[in-house]
Amino acid sequence: MAALVWMTLCLAAAFAVDRSNFKTCEQSSFCKRQRSVKPGSSPYRALLESLQLSQDSMKLQLINEVNKVPLLLELVGLQGNMTRIKINELSPLRPRYEVPDVLVRDPPTTWLAVTGRDENSVELSLGDSGHKLILTGKPFRMDLLQGRELVLSVNPRGLLHFEHLRHRKDSFSDKVSSSVGSLWDKIKKLQRYHDPLIAGPTSVGLDFSLPGEGLGGDPYRLYNLDVFQYELYNLMALYGSVPLLLAHNTQRTLGIFWLNAAETWVDISSNTAGKTLFGKMLDYMHGGGETPQTDVRWMSESGIIDVFLLLGPAPSDVFRQYTALTGTQALPPLFAMAYHQSRWNYNDEEDVAAVDEGFDTHDIPCDVIWLDIEHTDGKRYFTWDTNKFPQPRNMLGRLAAKRRKMVSIVDPHIKVDSGYQVHNEIRSRGFYVKTKDGSDYEGWCWPGSAGYPDFTNPEMRTWWASMFSYDQYEASMENLYIWNDMNEPSVFNGPEVTMYKDALHQGGWEHRDVHNLYGLYVQMATAQGLEQRSGGLERPFVLSRAFFAGSQRYGAVWTGDNAAEWDHMKISIPMCLSLALVGISFCGGECGAGGRLSPDAELLVRWYQVGAYQPFYRAHAHLDTVRREPWLFGEENKALIRAAIRQRYALLPYWYTTFYHSYRSGQPVMRPLWVEYPDDVTTFSIDDQFLIGNALLVHPVTEQGAQGVQIYLPGKGEVWYDVHSHQKHHIPAYQRGGSIVPRKERVRRSSDCMYHDPYTLYVALSPQGTAEGDLFIDDGHTYNFESKAQYLHRHFSFASNTLTARSADSKGIFESPAWIERVVILGAGKPAAVFLRQPGMAETRLDFQHEPETSVLTLRKPGVNIGANWSISLR
Ligand code: GLC
Repeated sequence: MAALVWMTLCLAAAFAVDRSNFKTCEQSSFCKRQRSVKPGSSPYRALLESLQLSQDSMKLQLINEVNKVPLLLELVGLQGNMTRIKINELSPLRPRYEVPDVLVRDPPTTWLAVTGRDENSVELSLGDSGHKLILTGKPFRMDLLQGRELVLSVNPRGLLHFEHLRHRKDSFSDKVSSSVGSLWDKIKKLQRYHDPLIAGPTSVGLDFSLPGEGLGGDPYRLYNLDVFQYELYNLMALYGSVPLLLAHNTQRTLGIFWLNAAETWVDISSNTAGKTLFGKMLDYMHGGGETPQTDVRWMSESGIIDVFLLLGPAPSDVFRQYTALTGTQALPPLFAMAYHQSRWNYNDEEDVAAVDEGFDTHDIPCDVIWLDIEHTDGKRYFTWDTNKFPQPRNMLGRLAAKRRKMVSIVDPHIKVDSGYQVHNEIRSRGFYVKTKDGSDYEGWCWPGSAGYPDFTNPEMRTWWASMFSYDQYEASMENLYIWNDMNEPSVFNGPEVTMYKDALHQGGWEHRDVHNLYGLYVQMATAQGLEQRSGGLERPFVLSRAFFAGSQRYGAVWTGDNAAEWDHMKISIPMCLSLALVGISFCGGECGAGGRLSPDAELLVRWYQVGAYQPFYRAHAHLDTVRREPWLFGEENKALIRAAIRQRYALLPYWYTTFYHSYRSGQPVMRPLWVEYPDDVTTFSIDDQFLIGNALLVHPVTEQGAQGVQIYLPGKGEVWYDVHSHQKHHIPAYQRGGSIVPRKERVRRSSDCMYHDPYTLYVALSPQGTAEGDLFIDDGHTYNFESKAQYLHRHFSFASNTLTARSADSKGIFESPAWIERVVILGAGKPAAVFLRQPGMAETRLDFQHEPETSVLTLRKPGVNIGANWSISLR
C-alpha cells in the first residue's frame, strides 16, 4: 500500500534569530515530563463495567493503577464520519479549561451501539459510517476499523498521561509521595521564567498510530509567538497554531483535531511494523511484510483531552468535516482579494496621496493603501498623529473617490497613559488581563508600557467592537478596514516575547490555558466591530498575525515578519498551503518582503508573481528599508510587476468564485496537488507548485536566476517551462483541461471600478472535448447574498461542441449589467460556423477567429448578459 502520510500542523513552524530565547521541549517542563513517559508503561485501565451508553455517546472510567486517580472517557459519535473523544478527571478539584468559541455549534451526533463484548474489550459501532471501535480494557487502548482495515489507534503505545489537579499544599506536604514532591520541585527549577505553577502540573498527553509513513524528528511546537525574521525548516513555534494533523495516503485521508489552546507539542515518528501491536495488526491485515506506521503524540500543558477523529475518507471529506466543526472561510469582500500596498510606514497624508497617484500614473491597479503604527498619536490606537495626518477623513474621502480603501493598524496592546481615553476606559471597566495579584498586567510593546485587554471576556469584546463605530473611531469611514498585529500576544519583555503564563483572564483562567486563543479573539472582536458599524450589513476585512482553529471565520492572515530572501519567498507557498488545509484559506506571504533588507529587483519581481497567485496579495516593507513601490525599479521591472498585478485582477472573478466554494463547502482555495489527485503519489511531496481551486495549476519561479521551472502535470508527467522562451512576464500557470475559468480583462484602477466590466470565459477542453466551470457574483461586499439570496451562481459546460450557460443555484436572484464579451476555447478545431442561441430568440451567428498552431478559438462578442441562459454551438 502506498505510503506517505502527509503531515500538516499549523504551526507555520519556526524560529528565532536567537533561538536561545525560545524553549525546546527539553526546556519546557511539561513537555519533558510528558516525554519521560515511555511507550508500554501506561498505568491506565478502562473499567469496562463502568460503561454507560446513551444513544450517541459512551462514557466509561479509566483508572490510573499507580495513583488511583480516575478519569472519565466520553466517546461521542458525530454525523459525517467523525468521532469525538473527551478525557477529563472524573472529579477534578476545580474545573479544567475547555476551549470555548472554536466549535461553531454542538456538532450533530449519531448513534452508537455495543456490538460485541468479551472480558477485556468492547466493540462499538459508530453510526452508519461502517466504522467499528474496539476498546480494550487493559492496557487501555482503542482501535478504529472499517471492515478489516485498521484506520487508527488511540493510546496504542500507552502514552496517555493526565496530570490531575492537586491541592497546592500537597506538593510540599510530607504526606505526599516523594515522587510528586520532587516533581513539583523539579518543575520549579526548570521554569526559566519562574512560572509559579499555582495549579501544579496539569498537562495532558495521548498517542495515536496511523498506517503509512510520516515525517519524524523534533516535536512541533504550537504556541503562538512573535518571532522576528524566523528561521526556515524548523519546528519551533510561530505566530499561529491550528492543532489539526492530516494524514493522507492513496486509500484514505484522515484528520486528528486536538482541541486545546494551551502550549502544545506534537511528536511524530515513523517506523515499520512489528514494533508495536498496532504494527502487528497492520501487518496481519495487509498480509505480512513491513507495513509502515506513523506514531503521533500530542502533549498540552493544561486543559482536557478533547480530540476529534476525522475519518475522511477523501481529502474533500476531511475538509468538510473539519470546517463543519470550526467553520468555513468567511467570504471576504471582493476588494480584499485584490492588491494591497503597505509599508511601515506611509508617512503622512501627502505620502499616501503620492502613492495613490503613483498607481494611476503607472497604470497599475491597486485597491488598498495601508497605514502602520506610525499613523497614530504615539502608538495610541484609534487615534491619528495630528501633524502627519491632520485630516484623515479627507484622505479617506479622496481614496473613496478613487474607489480605493484604506487599512489602519489597531494592535491589542494599549498604551498605559492616563491621558489616553481608550486606556482609561479599559482600566475602569476592569477589562485588562490581570497579574496573579489582581493588578492590571503590564508589558512592553510598541507604545512602551502597555496593558493587554482580556479578549477572552465577551463583555470586553463587545466593548472593543463598539470602538469601531464611526462615532468612536475618529475619522473612520466605510472604506477603512483593520489590521490586528502583535496578537500572539507579543510582549517584548515577557517570557519568549509573550505574556506570563500565570497572568489571569476572566473566570480566573490562567493565560496558560487560553494562550493560543488570544489572537483569534482579537480578530473576532475586531471583525464584529466592523460588522456592527454597518448595522450588520457589510462583510468585514481584518488581517491578523496570530491565529487558531476557527480563525478562518474572521478574515485573513499573513506569514509575518519574513526576510527579503529567496528562501523566505519560497516558504510562503507551503506555509499558506498548510494553512489552507487546516481551514484558513485567506493567507498571503507578505509579497515584496517585509524584512529589514531590501530585495533586489529580481527577487521583488518574482515575489509579486508569487503573490499574484496567493489568496491574500499584499506588499509590505519594514521601517528601515528603502522605498519599494512597484515603479521604483526601472521600466522593465515595473512592466513585469504591473503584469503580475493585472494578472491577479483579470482572475478576480475566478478567485471570488473559488472563495465562495470555500465558504460554502470548506474546500481550500489554494491547494496542494494531492488534494485533487489523491491517488498520484508523485504529488504527495510537491510543495512548490499548487492549485487555485481545481482549475489553475501554478508553479511560480522561486530560484534566483532560474531560466524556467520543472512542472509536474498529473497524468502527463514533468514538463520544463522555459520562462524566457515565453514572454518574460508569464508566470508559469496552467488551466486544467476540462475546466472553464471566468476572467475580466479590462484594466482598471481597482476591483470596484471593474465591477460592471464584461467577462471573458476561458474554456479549456479535456481530451474528450468537454469542460465545466462556474461563476459566483453578488454585490461584492454585503451579507445580502446570505440574508436575501441576492446572488447569481452560473454554471457553464461544454460538451458535443456546445457551450451552455445555466443557473447553478436557482435560489439566488441578482441582476448584473455585466455581459460576456469573449469566449476563448483552448484545444478547439476550426468550426465552419458558430451560433448563439437564447430562449425565445432567433439564432445568431458569432464572429470568431481560430489559431491553428495553438488550437485557440476566440468567439467575439456573444454580448449575452452574465445572468442569461444561452448556448453556443460550433458547427
Ligand atoms: C510587526 C509586523 C509588521 C509591522 C510591524 C510594525 O513586526 O509583523 O508587519 O510592520 O510590526 O507594526
